[in-house]
Amino acid sequence: MCGIIGYVGKSKAVPYLIRGLEHLEYRGYDSSGIAVTENGQVITVKTSGRIQDLKNKLTGIELTAKCGIGHTRWATHGEPDDINSHPHSSMSGLFTVVHNGIIENYLPVKKELMSEGFTFKSSTDTEVIANLLEKYYEGDVVHTINKCRRILEGSYALCIICRDFPDTVYGVRKGSPLHCAESSSGRLFSSDTIALLPYTKSIYTLDEGETAVMDSREISFFDTNSNRISKSADRLDLPERSADKGDFPHFMLKEIFEQPQVLKRTLDSLIKEDELFPELSELKKSFFALQKICFVGCGSAYHAGLAGKILTEKIGNITCTAETASEFRYGNTPLDSKTLCIFISQSGETADTLAALLKAKEKKARTLSVINVRGSSIAGESDFVIYTEAGPEIAVATTKAYTAQLISLYLFALCFAHERWQIKRSERDRLLSELRLLPAKVQRIIDSRDKAELFSSLFDGRREGWFIGRGSDYAAAMEGSLKIKEISYINTGAYPAGELKHGTISLLERGTPVVALCCEERLFTKTFANIREVKARGASVLILACEKSAEALTDEENVLFLPDTADEFACLLQAVALQLLSYYTAVKRGCDIDKPKNLAKSVTVE
Ligand code: AGP
Ligand code: GLU
Repeated sequence: MCGIIGYVGKSKAVPYLIRGLEHLEYRGYDSSGIAVTENGQVITVKTSGRIQDLKNKLTGIELTAKCGIGHTRWATHGEPDDINSHPHSSMSGLFTVVHNGIIENYLPVKKELMSEGFTFKSSTDTEVIANLLEKYYEGDVVHTINKCRRILEGSYALCIICRDFPDTVYGVRKGSPLHCAESSSGRLFSSDTIALLPYTKSIYTLDEGETAVMDSREISFFDTNSNRISKSADRLDLPERSADKGDFPHFMLKEIFEQPQVLKRTLDSLIKEDELFPELSELKKSFFALQKICFVGCGSAYHAGLAGKILTEKIGNITCTAETASEFRYGNTPLDSKTLCIFISQSGETADTLAALLKAKEKKARTLSVINVRGSSIAGESDFVIYTEAGPEIAVATTKAYTAQLISLYLFALCFAHERWQIKRSERDRLLSELRLLPAKVQRIIDSRDKAELFSSLFDGRREGWFIGRGSDYAAAMEGSLKIKEISYINTGAYPAGELKHGTISLLERGTPVVALCCEERLFTKTFANIREVKARGASVLILACEKSAEALTDEENVLFLPDTADEFACLLQAVALQLLSYYTAVKRGCDIDKPKNLAKSVTVE
């Protein structure tokens, strides 16, 4: 992952670099660093820990440089310690680089460089880039970059400084994103437009293999043969994605609370005068010809896809699959022009999802994406886009973006089923009315959050737990389990309730916390029987059920009741209750709620 930044201008570079890194911290936060050219010398300051630790380290160091590069890291190669933090310099210090991506052939390249006498300080793949640049340098940096490009395999966005050109920053990309912009405050490179938008709306996005050179006069662009090319900027009329916790102790809680408005906003933006997805009219024309729909995403976005698959199959009567993007991109799912692939991503930058999309396009499948961040790479590459209206999501654990994905996919399923004549208009309208009631029902769950807080005692002192359910309850179980794992570090597994007896139940111990989801009415008695099985073996069970099941559950001690809704949509209400359960569990354990260890908000490496 990682975020990279570069600055050349009339002002001191360090404040610009730090501000940029703060915007990019969502991409990785295990270490960070900057390098600036000060009086012809390159000065590097880097440290493990958060950007705040870098700021502390910089206190008292007077740096007046007007040119520099910066990095916030999510380690792929080598521990997140001070030495492995970026920037990395070549053996003699001639080149200094920051890198987002993975150099897949770094080992053979490193071996060869070592046999030629180059030395290395870190265990990163990145350091080979710095030394390779030094090896091929003959006075022209763009030429050198292009020579190295032919050797390096994998993905990279790089910002480079060369001691010989102290007022210049070079940027090049392959696979990982890189943007640059020119403003009255200076010229900047950034992995994400978010760090550029405070200065200008006019942004250049580097294409594969392109190199950009920025100095005190201009930004110039070069193709892979080092020929100068002209390039025009895109105007990004996007709101600044600044975020503020307000009075909330954590972004995650604030974002959980925002869900009623987010869901309503998302629905309102996708329905115009009773027409669902008016912007997708071209795509809708192809619905009759489709033979299959593949839902693809990573983590929570994959779980949203799973719920989308279940509902689309149920009411749309079409074969659907749900796959994680990392499997889909290398898998053998047959794809052709009669397949619609739906890619789901909050950030729109997830590397696996982007690669899966490119594969689907190559196979001539139709592509539709469900994206939260406008102007993102996945949105740009897709034939059609549905935007969720979650607004900026800061907490690493997704909440509002996930439920916005769910409601968009529910609406898509309704639209698909109706356009393909699988459900009558009256049924579409009934389900649509139910859908419109969800924001208010989510508000009820938030208002009674004390119950989720109370039931979070289920996990007190425990290191593991289970989530079980059938049908769409199983999709909800997957998301609930991930949520608790990522923020409270409790090792939970999600299992189809009927599968336990085929092996997993042997793991059950007295007191094992089991969260049993049973909102699907038609499967209630089946899941209820599975609850009896785990209880009989000593599990501590918390049941999540709809109010309509109250009578059947009168003898149960621990039940978190949710407002009644159509079976089709219960997964969304369960998600909100499980977000609160996870949140309170993690708070009690003293975890870093918004920035859990080892994670990053946006995963831009494979
Ligand atoms: C969810 O809480 C996670 N942090 C993670 O699973 C996330 O949903 C996944 O990395 C996909 O991200 P995207 O939606 O930005 O593609
Ligand atoms: N591979 C580099 C490292 O481990 C960059 C990491 C990244 O972009 O995720 O330091």
